[in-house]
Amino acid sequence: MCGIIGYIGPRNAVPILIEGLKRLEYRGYDSAGIAVVDGQRVQCQKTKGKIAALEEMVKENPMASNVGIAHTRWATHGVPSSINAHPHLDCASKIAVIHNGIIENYAELRETLINRGHTFRTDTDTEVLAHLIEHYFEGDLTRAVRKALKGVVGAYGLAVICSDDPSKVVVARNGSPLVIGIGDGEYIVASDVSAIVDHTRQVIYLKDREISVIERDTFQTMTIDKEPVTPEIEEILWDIDTIEKGGFPHFMLKEIYEQPETVRNTLRGRLDQEEGTVRFGGLLPFKEDLRRVRNIVITACGTSWHAALIGEYMIEEYARIPVEVEYASEFRYRNPIVENGTLVVAISQSGETADTLAAMREAQRHGAKALGIINVVGSTIARECDGGIYIHAGPEIGVASTKAFTSQVTALALFTILLGRMRGMSRDQGTEIIRALTAIPDQVQCILDQGEHIQKIAQCFFRQNNFLYLGRGYNFPVALEGALKLKEISYIHAEGYPAAEMKHGPIALIDENMPVVFVATLDSVREKVMSNIAEVKARKGSVIVIANEGDEKMEKYVDNAIYIPRTLELLTPILSVIPLQLLAYHMAVLRECDVDQPRNLAKSVTVE
Ligand code: M6R
Repeated sequence: MCGIIGYIGPRNAVPILIEGLKRLEYRGYDSAGIAVVDGQRVQCQKTKGKIAALEEMVKENPMASNVGIAHTRWATHGVPSSINAHPHLDCASKIAVIHNGIIENYAELRETLINRGHTFRTDTDTEVLAHLIEHYFEGDLTRAVRKALKGVVGAYGLAVICSDDPSKVVVARNGSPLVIGIGDGEYIVASDVSAIVDHTRQVIYLKDREISVIERDTFQTMTIDKEPVTPEIEEILWDIDTIEKGGFPHFMLKEIYEQPETVRNTLRGRLDQEEGTVRFGGLLPFKEDLRRVRNIVITACGTSWHAALIGEYMIEEYARIPVEVEYASEFRYRNPIVENGTLVVAISQSGETADTLAAMREAQRHGAKALGIINVVGSTIARECDGGIYIHAGPEIGVASTKAFTSQVTALALFTILLGRMRGMSRDQGTEIIRALTAIPDQVQCILDQGEHIQKIAQCFFRQNNFLYLGRGYNFPVALEGALKLKEISYIHAEGYPAAEMKHGPIALIDENMPVVFVATLDSVREKVMSNIAEVKARKGSVIVIANEGDEKMEKYVDNAIYIPRTLELLTPILSVIPLQLLAYHMAVLRECDVDQPRNLAKSVTVE
């Protein structure tokens, strides 16, 4: 996730900004940059790669100022590169902007600004902000930022400096965090408090649609509509380790709780509710190929493979295109038949998984077009695929994949709408799915709010050595994912099965020592799953069920129930997986396992 730091005060801003960037390193980034107001101009230096490289650069070309901003970038629009790194400048290089978030209407804004004579240097969405502020600038930076933001749709936490209005930093927030640290005669602004605590523990958290103008010895906050705001000063009591994890004890838990926001980010700027369809910038050159697709092969590993299985169900049901899901490690070596009209979709959080990359290359060697559904922008798969969808989940640091999974499934739902609308899905049906997708982030939050209840269930079961996870239809891959989460972080043996397969073997394992987790939502196969629950209960197995709100009579048949909101059947996995992530997390913590770095596992498997 990108990181923001800014300084105004009596000291030289440069070393403070560089140290602040180092504090933000844990968030993950691919490039970094710094800009200061230096007399009549803005001086800016930026580079791809590590902060150490930026520090070297600044040593070779020293800069000094009392006002400056700096940024670590995690690419969303445009590959990781020095040019795309922040800060971004206007045409005259007098205004510098750093930004976290996504500007949804950047393409329209960019076109308008180009028509008005602005010259763009980067592929980023952020650069439009610099030019838009330049367009409105008449000597007062605050006014120009306010006017610019009125025309912006999307999420932002941002900081701006300007050499023609040099004694201030203007910051604003909408959706992405922005904190102002109040020091002794100085101010430090940042996207999170980890970059501030070395200087002060007195902070103000800006709220959405608020702007603050920070000068050397004063600051003023208002809304974008110019309403004055009296901000509340808070004191930070956390230590640095807690701060980096956002107050959570582990990155995995932080990432689980980020999911309302990460799903929202996957949807951001892509929905066309009126037309009942979606837009993907990365698929524009691919549109004709998509119309001609006759069959799809989705290839992936681990959690991404589970998302792929859900994609198979979605695409076959709604776009009526035959889909096969292949383990990348198998596909790459089995001399697959890749027919004319086959589209290969590679799903990978990291974009670097060796087997997935090799499978995609193998498919391309056979003449197939390859599409990537990737989190890490500029990763190898992202660069080598013929077209791509970024899931925009932000850096995933915990080895167990959580937020990437829900964003992958969300992206697959969007892709299904796109394919479906090309093949007879009605506008109303497209609109119905989009409406349901829009409700998902709040529904995810409702499930997260039941954290304590899920923790209590974990307390009853964490000493068990075996678990079975069962689900049908869209919830079968969720059962697989629940079992994978549990085994990889708690080292409890867990198997996922389609519920009806139980009677073909696993039922022999059922006794009072074999807890079974059922995903039994109110869907087309719910009654069948109820029979499977009865079969387990008849053999003294303990049952934990993930059921829908409104289905409380379930409690008569099971030992523990976790209720989730209802949605369309194809979107259910985005919700039903959340309690399973939390259950695995709490059991692992109770077993005192290293949740973020489980034994023998790597975040990105770049070897065979
Ligand atoms: O980066 P990728 O999505 O390609 O990674 C694939 C798997 O290695 C990954 O999902 C792995 O299974 C995780 N540890 C699951 O939590």
